[in-house]
Amino acid sequence: MRFPENFIQEVAERADIEELVGRYVTLKKAGGNLLGLCPFHSEKTPSFTVTPSKNMFYCFGCHAGGSAITFVQKAENLEFADAVELLANRLGLPIPREASASVRREDEVSRKRVLEMNLEAAKYFRACLFDPDIGGPGMAYLKGERGLSDATIKHFGLGYAPEGFGMLNYMRSKGFRDEELQVAFLCGKSQKTGGAYPYFRNRVIFPIIDSIGNVVAFGGRVLDDSKPKYLNTSDTPAFRKSNHLFALNYAKNCCAERMILCEGYMDVIALHAAGFEYAVATLGTAITPNHARIFSKYTKRVIISYDSDEAGQNAANKAMRILGEVGMDVRVLKLSGAKDPDEFIRKFGNERFRRVLDESKTGFEYKLETILSRHDLTVGSEKIRATGEICEVIAGYSSNVERAVYQSVASERLGLGEDVLKNSVERIRNKMRADAKAQESRAAQATLKNFGDRINPDAAKDPRAATAEESVLGLLLIFGEYRNEVLFGKVALASEDFITEFHRKVFDHIMALEASEGGFRFELLGEFFSPDEMGRIRRMEVIRRDLTQNGPEVFRSSVASLLAVKQEKEVRSGDLASHLEYIRRKSKIHKGKVDPT
Ligand code: UTP
Ligand code: MN
Repeated sequence: MRFPENFIQEVAERADIEELVGRYVTLKKAGGNLLGLCPFHSEKTPSFTVTPSKNMFYCFGCHAGGSAITFVQKAENLEFADAVELLANRLGLPIPREASASVRREDEVSRKRVLEMNLEAAKYFRACLFDPDIGGPGMAYLKGERGLSDATIKHFGLGYAPEGFGMLNYMRSKGFRDEELQVAFLCGKSQKTGGAYPYFRNRVIFPIIDSIGNVVAFGGRVLDDSKPKYLNTSDTPAFRKSNHLFALNYAKNCCAERMILCEGYMDVIALHAAGFEYAVATLGTAITPNHARIFSKYTKRVIISYDSDEAGQNAANKAMRILGEVGMDVRVLKLSGAKDPDEFIRKFGNERFRRVLDESKTGFEYKLETILSRHDLTVGSEKIRATGEICEVIAGYSSNVERAVYQSVASERLGLGEDVLKNSVERIRNKMRADAKAQESRAAQATLKNFGDRINPDAAKDPRAATAEESVLGLLLIFGEYRNEVLFGKVALASEDFITEFHRKVFDHIMALEASEGGFRFELLGEFFSPDEMGRIRRMEVIRRDLTQNGPEVFRSSVASLLAVKQEKEVRSGDLASHLEYIRRKSKIHKGKVDPT
């Protein structure tokens, strides 16, 4: 699908990038820019900038960058056209008719279409659950075995997927094609016949609703002990596991102070029913850095309440680390006497849970207790091991104050002098620093050689040319008058002058747009380049931005040095040819005359 350029331009201009990015990142004013933690990589100090005057963004850490459209593409994992459409819908701009669904490629299923299918499917599952002739087994399970009330079932929009093909027939009657249902993960594809069959059968259904109310996916649980216990929607054009949290649509309204992170759908439902409406869960996956960023957007403190078995506790340790990396205040709950929060509340009631919640331990206390409980401190070798593990934990904190406090707590618990612990912690930190340095220099060397530059692989062969090209392109991106000079031949610069293929392609598109009726606009490049490539292009511009005072001389001298690099390269290869010719001639002489003198 292709949108008219003026439409793309309008969308990019009208999109309020501050508001848009603000949905994912907390931004603070910094000069004419806004600054925040990058939503595309893990960091503790902000290097992500938004320039509202240009409606653009750039991260100095991971070099993600581009227009509002690029941002939506990256944040929501969308194709360019789908991101344009999403923004247009949010802005209430009508989609130009020639670009709308009718002329799409047959097999292209949009995010919007998937959301429509999901909504219809959710209605179907719910109707089945509440139909006395169909929903009996589902209702018996949810109410009888899991103790849910009618109100809770309705609140979460739970449903029931009966055996058979009823769902497929219903969805077909609503105008959805089998292939679309397969893309939405509502139907599977039979290996034998290739036909569609409903994915969820004989299961209770948990719709996953995003923070703005779309049904983005489903989880389905069996009614007995058969396997797999849960089926979940895989990635679709409207859903990525790592972008969503179950029940965030409710939790987001009361989670400013704290949120509870659980493992299971049923835990979350039980907690909400008991009044803890700030509980959420990941969806059939371990927590990812992306989830951590979602938390940091909504709340200050996350209380992890995973299963009390060993697997759950290991997962809790990992979650603590990932949440800690985005600067969250992380606490951990230790539930005894029940395997998970759902069972705990059923057994001991809301009040007892609230008390445990208020006593939740900080990450350090929790880790300390866990290590101590695993070792018998009356045995010397065990005590040494426990001390080593605890020092490792303390060494992981970057704040001196935190380390001092934890050393004193640990010294008391272990019955060892604080200085002993301090020495050991410092030794570990020195080693960590050395390791980090070594890794940094490895990384720096790799960049130096342009290894792993997947965006512009040619840059490795010719780093000087690549650098000269970047200067020229950066200036062309910023200044219309330079584009004009090139377009009208006032500065002799052509596609062939670019040695690296990626830069040549960037140049070609800049100039083609400049020559087009509407002229060049940064965001229009998004149609031809991936979000990662857009980040690279934006970087060329950002880096050049400081050189704006010197005007045309900078541009002319950049072009001159680009041409010089190219010429030098040609001369050098000429040299080699003549050198070879020289050697060849010389060897003939040797063969012809045995004695050259
Ligand atoms: P649990 O088995 O702890 O889930 O798995 P639960 O919600 O507590 O289940 P019950 O109903 O009380 O027995 C935790 C989560 O892991 C995912 C689901 O998201 C589940 O909620 N999971 C589990 C799967 O995706 N597939 C499975 O087969 C099992
Ligand atoms: Mn459970």
